[in-house]
Parts: sequence; C-alpha cells; structure tokens
Amino acid sequence: MSFISKDIAFAEKALTAGELVAIPTETVYGMAGNGFNENAVKQIFKVKNRPFYDPLILHTNSIEKLESWGLKIPEVLQPLAKAFWPGPLTLLIKKSAQVPEIITSGLDRVAVRIPSHATTLDLLSRLSFPLAAPSANPFGYVSPTTPEHVAVHFEGKIAMVLDGGPCNVGIESTIVGIENDKPTVYRLGGLSIERIESVVGSVQVNTSSSKPSAPGMLSKHYSPNKEIVTVETQAELQKFETRKTAFILFDLKKNVPPAKLIQLSLKSDHDEAAQKFYDALRHWDNDESITRLVIERLPDFGLGRAINDRLLRAAAKD
Ligand code: TXA
Ligand code: MG
Repeated sequence: MSFISKDIAFAEKALTAGELVAIPTETVYGMAGNGFNENAVKQIFKVKNRPFYDPLILHTNSIEKLESWGLKIPEVLQPLAKAFWPGPLTLLIKKSAQVPEIITSGLDRVAVRIPSHATTLDLLSRLSFPLAAPSANPFGYVSPTTPEHVAVHFEGKIAMVLDGGPCNVGIESTIVGIENDKPTVYRLGGLSIERIESVVGSVQVNTSSSKPSAPGMLSKHYSPNKEIVTVETQAELQKFETRKTAFILFDLKKNVPPAKLIQLSLKSDHDEAAQKFYDALRHWDNDESITRLVIERLPDFGLGRAINDRLLRAAAKD
C-alpha cells in the first residue's frame, strides 16, 4: 500500500494497534494516535519533536461518546457545540479520570473537537477511543493542509497518511473555554469571532503567549525556513528589492515575475486566503534563491484575524 492512501479500514487497524496515522480534517492534517493509549500518545510527541508541556486535542465523532468518557460540555459552551460541531471549533472542558495526564500536560482541562471531514468522521465512528491529534508538522513549523505536506516530513515514520484531499478551511480550529463564567477564545482559528458572537454574544479573547494555561500559544510558531516581513500598505511594499524576495499578497499590487508572487485571493475573500495560506508559506521552502518572504497582513476581521495572528508568530524572532 502506498504511504498516502484512502484506505480507512487500514487506518482503523493501525490506530487500534497503537500506531500513528495522519488524518485529514477541514482545518489542517492531524498526527493521530489512540488518545487513551499512553505509548501511542508519547509517540506523537516524539515524532513531532513536540515538548510535553504543549497539550493535545482529543477528536471524536459525537457528544454521546464524549459523555461516555466522562467529558461533559458545560452549559455556557453548549450553544457553540450545537451550532458549530462538526466544525473548526475546539472546546476546553473539565478533564475526566479516563483522559491520561500526558494529553493535558497535567492541566485540569482537556481540549475536545468534532472535526468536519467525511473521511475522518467515518474513521472516528469506527473507533471506541478518541484520537489525540496535533497538527501533523514538525514542532514549530508550518501546519500541513495537503497529504503531501505531511509526507515530506513523516514518510517512513508513521503508518500512513489518510488521504482526504486539501483541507478546505486551512487554518487550525478556534479554541474556546470559560473564564469568569464567560466564553473565552484562547486561539484564533478557522471559526471567526463574528460567527461565535452571533451565537453567544460578545466573548473575551485571551491569546497572549505568556499564559501557562495555553502553552501552545508560543510566540514563535508556524514558521517556514525564511525571514518573514509583514506589510500593510502599498508604500511599505514598494521598499523591497525583488532579487531574493518572494511576495504573498492579498490586495496590494507588486510588479514581480509570477514565480515570485502568490496572490491569496483575487476576490479579496478571507476564507479563500486562509485556505491557501499555509501552502503559500511552504511554497519556496526548497528554493534557496529566495531568502525572504514579504507577506501582506489582511484586514482584521473574519479569518483575517486568525491569519494575522499566525503571521505575527511566523515572523517572531524567538
Ligand atoms: O484544527 C486543529 O485544532 C488541529 C486539527 C488536527 O484538529 N489541531 C491542532 O492541534 O491544531 P495542535 O496540537 O497543533 O494545537 C493544539 C493547541 C495546543 O498547542 C494548546 O494551545 C491548545 O491546543 N490546548 C490543547 N489542550 C489544552 C489544554 N488542556 N489547555 C490549554 N490549551 C490546550
Ligand atoms: Mg500545531
């Protein structure tokens, strides 16, 4: 069987045997293992070179299954689960005894999500355990949105990549928990704040990187192997020489050879830009003639906010 395959039954067998399988979701590909099998979970950290202080999300296909594992969605968050699951939303809820400490890095809350992808929902419905699945990239690097992105780093190191085509949201799930009895966003992501607020009213946003309660929000993250500079206006854009620089643009215009330019959305559509964003960040990885990426920030609404957050972290110096 080839490393990238649509064989769900094979994925089911491998995961049940404690092996790792990269799975498609609507946000990004995940590096999945049996979330109740500590050895499988350890293997996830190892293969990604991920520090143990960065906790993992548990994925399943139904709220009933979560409840059978002692995981209850608190009332404040129930309207969100109802409106947006399956979908790009992760909820931080009270951990139960069945969840191994290694999943939560010792914290008393666990992150859970029902992803919206037909292949993976089929897989999850066959399993009696949740899948622990961080994004399927080496720690600190850009998240994968195609099976090929996963294969570049992990071929030969895990059982397979379950092929679900390119991800259609393209950035990680939005993480929501509760602080002072109010829904609080800990990571901006594929579900916009506007959509969340249309269901539960105004929410707090707490995505600072220094907070130990969300250790995954490290300032340096999502980085390709290039220097990254962000711009917002045409005047800033004109400053850059084009010899060793490539451009990832949204609305701004720069006259450069097509090989040095990716336009994220010709229709200025934030959702389309999110879908293409990580693939664009990886595009010049193997091109040593390019040393710098100049990237345009998006207007700060809809998925533009999440993209700008990733840009800030990708451009961070440490
Ligand atoms: O869209 C997604 O969420 C993807 C797909 C595969 O589902 N997964 C993903 O996982 O982005 P990962 O591991 O790359 O990011 C998970 C982040 C952690 O870095 C951390 O910020 C937060 O979720 N997290 C997980 N468990 C937590 C917990 N118990 N308390 C606080 N934050 C937690
Ligand atoms: Mg990640």
